[in-house]
This record gives sequence, structure tokens and C-alpha cells, in this order.
Amino acid sequence: MAEFADYKVKDISLADWGRKEIAIAEVEMPGLMALREEFGAKKPLAGARIVGCLHMTIQTAVLIETLRALGAEIRWSSCNIFSTQDHAAAAIAASGVPVFAWKGETEEEYWWCVEQTITGPNGWKPNLILDDGGDLTQLMHSKYPELLEDVRGVSEETTTGVLRLYDMAKKGTLKVPAINVNDSVTKSKFDNVYGCRESLVDGIRRGTDVMMAGKVAVVNGYGDVGKGSAQSLRNAGCRVMVTEVDPICALQAAMEGYDVVTMDDAADRADIFVSATGNRDIITIDHMRRMKDRAIVCNIGHFDNEIQVDGLKNLKWHNVKPQVDEIEFPDGKRIILLSEGRLVNLGNATGHPSFVMSASFTNQVLAQMELWNNSGSYEKQVYVLPRHLDEKVAALHLAKVGAKLTKLTKEQADYIGVATEGPFKSDAYRY
Ligand code: NAI
Repeated sequence: MAEFADYKVKDISLADWGRKEIAIAEVEMPGLMALREEFGAKKPLAGARIVGCLHMTIQTAVLIETLRALGAEIRWSSCNIFSTQDHAAAAIAASGVPVFAWKGETEEEYWWCVEQTITGPNGWKPNLILDDGGDLTQLMHSKYPELLEDVRGVSEETTTGVLRLYDMAKKGTLKVPAINVNDSVTKSKFDNVYGCRESLVDGIRRGTDVMMAGKVAVVNGYGDVGKGSAQSLRNAGCRVMVTEVDPICALQAAMEGYDVVTMDDAADRADIFVSATGNRDIITIDHMRRMKDRAIVCNIGHFDNEIQVDGLKNLKWHNVKPQVDEIEFPDGKRIILLSEGRLVNLGNATGHPSFVMSASFTNQVLAQMELWNNSGSYEKQVYVLPRHLDEKVAALHLAKVGAKLTKLTKEQADYIGVATEGPFKSDAYRY
């Protein structure tokens, strides 16, 4: 039999290393492992052909293998040119999954990789989409609309991708039902917050080895990612400032003890700049002109347009190492730009730890099962998973952290108007 060659990764010989780290991650991903245990024998995803576009990390490898254990066929690419962990991609390729991803793709290679996943040998075509950021969904809609006829739905991982889906639904251009995984409480209030709390400073440290304590840092945006990022920097000893446009988030930041300022105030004062808005043109070329020598500039939002990197293109770039550049201004001042303005925690470090990704990805698997088995009950709109599934995802992660849940008595449940087994909150509750 011909050797399996339906993949492209950096170095297939990294597979053993990847496999060892996958084994460690599995122990930290109780939600995914519980789904394998609960549904593995029933194969609820039998017949599903999932095209996935999400950072090809060790944690994603555990997601892919969970989807397979539930019966799905998979083709995969990464949703960012710098986020692939080559040993994870190698291990997945070695297990026979077509994966097209390596760390340090060019833009052209990135789109080439995504395209390799959309069709495959022997007429393989997808019937489910799993996306992070919306690039794959958009490509399927613009270039392969005929394939969408067989697609039962898309589940979307992140804030930015969800924004794009709601926009399509509003314009009537969304051609399949979509599940917004990001707005499961056990995703955005955990991954975006606690994930970034661990992985932001990790990325800055691996990129620069700079002393964090005592530095002045600015976080642009105090949403879920901004909240985790600000904590990450504060925990490392930085003095943290926040910029916001939303008065509620600005007030939250102030009441957490952060200085709420504007970029005009902060540009020449801070040592470290982190954009976390999901919006464009947050750190402008004018801001960067005013920064101190060797100020560190990075972005933890989904797309690189948060920083006006294009405006730096005609300046002198000095590459320090992969994903770390110094950009020299005409007066000789340099700023340090991490991951060319792309997701710093995945470009300069290894993204969020396994445990928090288990919560996110358990939602992903539940969403894929729902779309596959019940797509008939959904319109071409955007949905969130019901609260009882959100609570289930959280419950699956309690034992691992030694948390013991209190049980409501019948009288107590009646008194606050909920069932003893949940859901425990109304849809209006914001956590
Ligand atoms: P969010 O909507 O909760 O927060 C964004 C915040 O930025 C909002 O509070 C908004 O008011 C603020 N904002 C918007 N424009 C601004 C401006 N011009 N100046 C200052 N603040 C402004 O969104 P979330 O969940 O925090 O996500 C932010 C980005 O991070 C998205 O692109 C998302 O996809 C991405 N993300 C990245 C992760 C990572 O691991 N790097 C993990 C999860 C999300």
C-alpha cells in the first residue's frame, strides 16, 4: 500500500515528540476525554467530513483526535501563519489525518493550505466546517458556494469570526447554520480571560526576555481578552494602563485599579503595548513614532490590522529571530514588533494551556455533534449552545481541579426558581 502522503508539514520526524506532548495534554483535557468516553462507542459523528481551520497546536491535536474518535473524517489547516506547532502537525499527519500547516507560512502558503483541506482525494468534500476567525467560512462562501449545499453547519471559535458570521446572517449571505462557540460562557469567560492571562506574558517573555516587573504596559481593549491580558501583565509586576471605547469596560478597568487612558496619553509613556480589541488601527504609525526606544509592540487580537504594520513596511527592519523584529525609524529609534503584529501568544509562545482549551474544544465538539445530528432544526442563522451544555462543560472540568460542587436542596431550588440539576442561571445572567 502506498505510504500516506496527503499532508504537508514542516518535518514529519517531529511526530514522536508531538505524540508525547499530546499524551501529556490529554491528561489536562478532561472535557474532551470525557466526550470520548461518553460517545466513542456510539460514533455520533459517523459520516461527518469536517474541514477545520484552527491553530494547529498540541491542544488542537487532542480536539482532532476526539472528533475522529467520535467517527468524523477530518482535513485540517491552521488559521494563522505563525501559530502551528510543527511537532503537533507532524504527529497528526503521522496518524493519517490530512493536515496542511507549518509555523512561518507566507500569506500565499496560508491560503494554499486552507484550499488543500476543502477538497481531497477520491472526491472528498466536507459536510461540516469548524473555523477560527472566519477565513475558511468566507472562502467556502466566496469560492466554493456549491460545496455549501452539503454542509450542515459551521462552528466558530473566536470573537472576530463570530462577528463576521453575525454580519453575514444580517446581510442574508450566510448559507449554513452556525454555532457561535465563543459565546458559550465556558469559552469566552475562560479561554479569552484565563488563557490570555497565562499566554500573553509567556509570548512577550519568549520573544524578548525583558524584565516585566516595573515596566509600564498598555492594554488596548478591556473585553474578555483585555481583562486576561491586563491581569497577565499585572501579575508579572507591570504597571498597567488600559484604553477603552466602551464606558462599561472602561469603568470595570478603573475599578480593578488600572489607569484608563488614551493612546495619545500612553504612546510615549509605556514600555509594552498590547492590542486586544478585535478592531483595526488601534496602534497607529503616529503612536509608534512617539514611542520610546525599544518599546515592545504586540497584538493578541485575531487579526494583525490592530497595529498599522503596513505603515512600518518602508522603514528598516532588523530580524532578531523568528517572530521578533526591530523596526528602525529615521531618527535611529527602534521598536520591537512581535509576530509581525499577529497573535503574540500563539506566534511567540504556544498559545493557551491545555486545560482551558479543553473547555473551549468541548464546546466545539458538542457544537459539531449538534450540527451533524440536528441541523434540520436550525435556520441559516447564528446560535449559541444551550445553557445546560455550558454547565455540562464546566462540570466536566471540576474534578481535575479538585473542586467539589454543592447540591441544591429541592427547597432551595424552588426558592430561587431553578431545577435542582440546573440550568442555574437565566439567559440574562452575565457571569
Ligand atoms: P471583546 O468584544 O470582549 O473585547 C474587545 C474590547 O475592545 C471591547 O470591550 C471593545 O469596547 C474594545 N474596543 C474596541 N475598539 C476599541 C478601540 N478603538 N480602543 C480601545 N478599545 C476598543 O472581544 P474579546 O473576546 O476580548 O476578543 C478580542 C480579540 O481577541 C478578538 O479578535 C478575538 O477573536 C481575539 N481572541 C484572541 C485570543 C488569543 O488567544 N489570542 C483568544 C480569544 C479571542
